[in-house]
Amino acid sequence: MTKKPTVLSGIRPTGYLHLGNYFGAVRNFVRMQEDFNCFFFIADLHSLTTHPTPENLQNGVKQVLAEYLACGIDPEKATIYIQSDVPEVTELYTILNMNAYLGELERTTSFKDKARQQPDNVNAGLLTYPVLMAADIIIHKANFVPVGKDQEQNLEMARKFAKRFNRMYKKKVFPIPQPYTFDGKDMIKVPGLDGSGKMGKSEGNAINLYEDPKSIRKKVMRAVTDSGPTEMNQEKPEPIQNLFTLMEIVSEPQTVAHFNELYNTCQIRYGDMKKQLAEDIIAYTSPIRDRIIDILKNDTYLAHVAKTGAEKARESASKTLAEVKNVVGFKRLF
Ligand code: TRP
Repeated sequence: MTKKPTVLSGIRPTGYLHLGNYFGAVRNFVRMQEDFNCFFFIADLHSLTTHPTPENLQNGVKQVLAEYLACGIDPEKATIYIQSDVPEVTELYTILNMNAYLGELERTTSFKDKARQQPDNVNAGLLTYPVLMAADIIIHKANFVPVGKDQEQNLEMARKFAKRFNRMYKKKVFPIPQPYTFDGKDMIKVPGLDGSGKMGKSEGNAINLYEDPKSIRKKVMRAVTDSGPTEMNQEKPEPIQNLFTLMEIVSEPQTVAHFNELYNTCQIRYGDMKKQLAEDIIAYTSPIRDRIIDILKNDTYLAHVAKTGAEKARESASKTLAEVKNVVGFKRLF
């Protein structure tokens, strides 16, 4: 039997997972756990860069863990763990920091963005964020990292640090991690409800998996539209196309066809379309929400998943770290 390639991805515990996270990432994690050796973790150390309160951090970690499980990530198939439970990661991070240069770290787009967003908190952790992320990835010798566009540069840095280490010590310790993109039809970009762009945590245009039906209806009914088409078969402006795209994701094809027909014949009433869309989103999310609620009540189960995940992750991480320590010269002569 050939060894399955290793896949790794992580999420910062800074809020609820939304439809964009689900269709863009987590649903694909669920599919990948069948064919790959998967590690999915919660990046709690990374989230310290924005100084959450201890309560927020604790709640955030519990929430994401429950959400991963509710979405179908199976702890029997994939290794699910919390980053801070695996101290080998921070040890590797310290070693990698010695070969990460100030200039390249300062030039990273995500660093520059964050420095602009939080000028009073431009901390060293923010600067070396890509180094910690590289450590996350290469500590398990991951081959593939499924991430969105916003993480491409960080992944590029991870590749650079892995190559640099291999070159410096003249040994192929780390495989070079590749971005993993899903083939065309699985590549779903979920738009937001504010008329333009994609759904995002910080954009305030998101529908969370955990959202209650009342709130989903309210958000969808408030979504940006226009005064309606004036010509037959008119091209759809972005806010309208976005509603149709959401509908294509959650509704039956006949429903989409029905509203398309109404749009193309200038008979559409956006209110009706939104009502239908809201109900179809609710039908999709409510079983997931019910599972999240159940799992959140079960601390014993959550603790068990976190503990067994940490054990599996540490087993894999400590092998790599031992190899790294030997290679860099921590192997004693006495
Ligand atoms: N930086 C990622 C994000 O903000 C989270 C993350 C941390 C990550 N370490 C990772 C993603 C390793 C993939 C692999 O979404």
